[in-house]
Amino acid sequence: MVAAHKGMNINAEEFMAVLDDALNALEKNNIGPREQEEVLFILHSMRKEIMLG
Ligand code: HEM
Repeated sequence: MVAAHKGMNINAEEFMAVLDDALNALEKNNIGPREQEEVLFILHSMRKEIMLG
């Protein structure tokens, strides 16, 4: 993930916007609350690799 986002200088607002989009897609596809939580937890755990790289 670090290499894919290197030099993009992604900030917290942009990062959270992607998580919002992911949440919308999960809800739109009727993914259960527990699975939603698991996916968002995994995506959020990548923030240090993606943000401000
Ligand atoms: C948890 C959040 C994110 C995940 C899991 C993620 C995942 C990925 C993956 C798998 C790729 C493809 C890498 C490749 O083809 O080698 C990618 C590319 C990219 N990501 Fe993300 N991303 C995330 C957040 C963001 C954010 C917040 C932005 C910008 C606001 C962003 C912008 C981009 C762009 C522009 C590319 C294309 C890079 C290229 O074509 O070289 N990503 N991302």
